[in-house]
Amino acid sequence: MDSHPPDKPVEAGWHFAAKADEVEDDVPSLVKVGDRQIALCRLGEDFYAIDNICTHEYACFTDGFIEGEEVECPLHQARFHIPTGKAMGAPATEDLRTYDVRREGEAVYVRVDDEEGGPG
Ligand code: FES
Repeated sequence: MDSHPPDKPVEAGWHFAAKADEVEDDVPSLVKVGDRQIALCRLGEDFYAIDNICTHEYACFTDGFIEGEEVECPLHQARFHIPTGKAMGAPATEDLRTYDVRREGEAVYVRVDDEEGGPG
C-alpha cells in the first residue's frame, strides 16, 4: 500500500498503516513495519491487524480473502478468526498473532514495538 502518513506525529510503537477508505473489506491490506508483514483487515467499520504469514506453512493472507470474521489462507484454506487470531481448523493449529489497532479520523495505526519491527 502506498499511502502516505498524515502530517502528524505518531506515538512510539504506533505506525501509520493505511487510510481507512483504502482498506477493502474482502481482502487484507499489506502493512510493512520494518521487516514485519502485517495484514490489516476491515470488518465493517472496525479494523484488525494480524500477522500476514500463515502459521501452517508460508502463505500471505493478503493473497487470501475475508469471509465473515475469518480470513482464509490461499494455500491450504485454513481459516483464522480475525479479531482474535485463533486458528479455526486444519491444517493450521497455531493461532496468529494480533496487533493493537486504532483509528484517528481517516488514519489507521497499528502498534508494533519498535525493536520488533526493526529499522524503518
Ligand atoms: S500455508 Fe496456510 S493453511 Fe497451509
